[in-house]
Amino acid sequence: MGISSLGYVTLNVSDLAAWLDLTTSVFGLEVRHRAGESAVDLRMDAYHHRLSLYPAAHDSLGVVGWEVASMNALEALGEALQAQGIDISPGSADLCHERRVKALYRFTEPHIGIATEIYYGPLMSNTPFTPSRGIAGYNTGDGLGLGHLVFWVRDLQATLDFYLNVLGFKISDYIAWDDNDAIFLHCNPRHHSLAIMAERPGRPAGVLHHIMLEAQSRDDVGYGYDIVRDKGIPVMIEPGKHSNDHMQSFYLRTPSGFWMEYGYGALLVGPDWEIKNYDQPMLWGHRMVGP
Ligand SMILES: [Fe+2]
Repeated sequence: MGISSLGYVTLNVSDLAAWLDLTTSVFGLEVRHRAGESAVDLRMDAYHHRLSLYPAAHDSLGVVGWEVASMNALEALGEALQAQGIDISPGSADLCHERRVKALYRFTEPHIGIATEIYYGPLMSNTPFTPSRGIAGYNTGDGLGLGHLVFWVRDLQATLDFYLNVLGFKISDYIAWDDNDAIFLHCNPRHHSLAIMAERPGRPAGVLHHIMLEAQSRDDVGYGYDIVRDKGIPVMIEPGKHSNDHMQSFYLRTPSGFWMEYGYGALLVGPDWEIKNYDQPMLWGHRMVGP
């Protein structure tokens, strides 16, 4: 029993207004303000929220929250982490309420160095997702989860071993191109909830490369691209289609510096999945714009 899906991500942001503008005008997320607090939760599906923005002096990734199926799965994973010598701490009642989950364990992921939470029992909303622009919505259902994260890591093999053998991920495929070396990992039918790339000059280990959200409609992404261009938000990779998961997407630079990928149409990993290897990340398009 390992991780079921990518559940939530929290971000410490120095420009909350710019983040709210990006996540509403481009991604159409629903804003949930907290009573008496400056932090803001963002909703994209039936879950109470998937992203949280915390105003801060400096931009950083806050917490990555991985969902497990049950209390038993949470306890089993907690024991597996402790067996690796990793300190875990249970989330307080206040923290569980803030995350809107039944219970969680918190630990520092030992290879990428990210603050990580594993949890079960996310709060579902009893009202429909109400997007802030006219979008079809997000492809998160059937256990697919929030989307995916991509990190630069120091030791590709050790990081891979941890996610495979402790957290229960499986390899989807590999892509190596130019001076990039990437491994894609799944924990449910989403092609990858996590990808790890070997660090290289200018891309130090522990840095979040991007968060991907997958639209239910190609038009959501197309209109989003036009909005990004009209607003002057930096496009980092032009629209294109990935070689491995066939995601059609583009990438923009967020106000925190890391990128977001807005995608549509990725294929799913089935029980007969066979691992492949690629020497370029795109079938077509995806021309790099930024550095
Ligand atoms: Fe991606």
